[in-house]
Amino acid sequence: MKKLAVFISGSGSNLQAILDATADGQLEADVVLVVSNRQSAYGLTRAEKAGVPTLYFPFKPYREAGKNRATYDADLAKQVSQYQPDLIVLAGWMHIFSPAFLNRFPNRVINLHPALPDTFVGVGGIEWAFEAYHKGEIEHGGCMVHYVSPEVDRGPVIVQTIVPILPEDTLNTYAERVHATEHRIIIKAIQKVWVTLGESS
Ligand code: GRF
Repeated sequence: MKKLAVFISGSGSNLQAILDATADGQLEADVVLVVSNRQSAYGLTRAEKAGVPTLYFPFKPYREAGKNRATYDADLAKQVSQYQPDLIVLAGWMHIFSPAFLNRFPNRVINLHPALPDTFVGVGGIEWAFEAYHKGEIEHGGCMVHYVSPEVDRGPVIVQTIVPILPEDTLNTYAERVHATEHRIIIKAIQKVWVTLGESS
C-alpha cells in the first residue's frame, strides 16, 4: 500500500476527503502521518479520530531561537522521512517550503491551490477570483493540484478544473463550491500520481 503524509494548517476538510477515500477503497493508500504547523488546526482532531499519527511542528520556536526557515525545513524533512511517504500532500498547508525540504522529496510533494494555474497566487485565491469575476475580469474560477516547486503555487499541474461562479453567488457559496471541487480533485490527483509512479518504477 502506498503511504501518504498530509500537511495541514487548518480545518482539514481535504484531509478528511483523503481519509474517507482511503477508508472506502476509492484511493489505494494509507495516511501514515498528518503534520500541522498550527496546534489549533481541526485537521489534527480528524487525524486522531482516524487513528493516524500526528506531528505538530511549529516554526515559532525556530524563529525565536534565531534559526532560519531552511533549518526548520531540514528538521521537518528529517522527521517526515522516517515515515517513508510515497507522496506528501500539502492540503491547506500555510508554510512555503524551501529547497531544504523539497530536495529531500523530489517530485513527491503536491499542493492544492484554490484557483487555476498562474492565477491568484497566494492565500486569497478564492476571494480574489470572486472579486475579479465581479469586476468582469474573469468568467469562472477554478482549482488545481500541482507538483511543488520552490516558487509559490507553481509547478507542473496534475489536475485542474473550472469552478463556475454564478451571478447570485456570495463569497461563501462560491467558496463552498470550490471546496467541494477540491475534495474531488485531490483524490484524482493522488490517483494520477500513483499511475505516474507505477510507470516510472
Ligand atoms: C483549501 O481551500 C486549499 O486550497 C487552501 O486551503 C484550504 C484548506 O482547506 N490552500 P481545508 O483545511 O482542507 O479544509
